[in-house]
Amino acid sequence: MRLFRSTLLLTLVASTVPAAVLGLLLLWVDQAQLRSVLLSAAAGLLAALLLSAWFARGLSRDVSRVVVGALEIARGRFGRQVPVTSRNEIGELAYTFNHMSRELASYDQENRRLIAALEAGYLATIRALTSAIDAKDPYTRGHSQRVGHWSLEIGRELRLPEGELQALEYGGLLHDIGKIGVTEPILRKASPLTPEEMAVMREHPAIGGEILKDVEFLREAARAVRSHHERWDGSGYPEGLAGEEIPLVARIVNAADTWDACRSQRPYQAAMGVAEALAVMARLRGTQLDPAVHDALVQVVRRRHPISPEPAVDRGIAPPAPRL
Ligand SMILES: [Fe+2]
Repeated sequence: MRLFRSTLLLTLVASTVPAAVLGLLLLWVDQAQLRSVLLSAAAGLLAALLLSAWFARGLSRDVSRVVVGALEIARGRFGRQVPVTSRNEIGELAYTFNHMSRELASYDQENRRLIAALEAGYLATIRALTSAIDAKDPYTRGHSQRVGHWSLEIGRELRLPEGELQALEYGGLLHDIGKIGVTEPILRKASPLTPEEMAVMREHPAIGGEILKDVEFLREAARAVRSHHERWDGSGYPEGLAGEEIPLVARIVNAADTWDACRSQRPYQAAMGVAEALAVMARLRGTQLDPAVHDALVQVVRRRHPISPEPAVDRGIAPPAPRL
């Protein structure tokens, strides 16, 4: 709009010069000629104003379109094209802008493809690593994959943002990676662990956290790995964190891990049914499990098993929590 006003003002100023010359000439003409000269001058001035207004409006509209296009690019909407067809400098600017916009869209698409390929590669590497952990103990085969899946489902139920969901999936998949440092006789032992064996077993979250802590894209997942045996009431390990001191990703992986342990066949425990496992989880709500995370897990389970009966927690028949 300012460009439009400036162009109009310039035209008006430029028109005053011939008008002044005309005024001087009038001093030498007679009355009869005066009227026709004045009419011609007024008509010329009006035509000049109308033409300049039309030109200024077109110029101003084209510049506005380029500005709107530039703002769209700044917002990440690459590929936006500006509809300017003028054959002047503004038209050339729009042509260059459109070319730049198409190039940016093409680079953006290529970047997205590369990022997706990179993430798929990361995930394949992580899955291979978790298979190696699960292979140490035939009873936990597929456990890491399932914990990754349940963690993701609980995160979605809690409406966590996309970045945190990814950390949750990686954290769930890798939660027991520290068991690489635990010997197979301890991992496979069906009877209760001795205090020494338990001490070795309890090192696995810290070992896992150490393994992952320097991997940039697994930084958040490493927090889940390190703290997945912390308990809401502060009686967990390795640091005895309590409540919201425990990273949310770790609280979620803890719930998913416990749920899968309840539902799996282990040397020291038969697989529980849905109602029985829900009863165990309800008993752990507020002691081991974050109540909000527990409630989200229950919602996910009930969607998957809509005819499941209510948990048996109130009837006092819940079995003890499984060894994870
Ligand atoms: Fe664990």
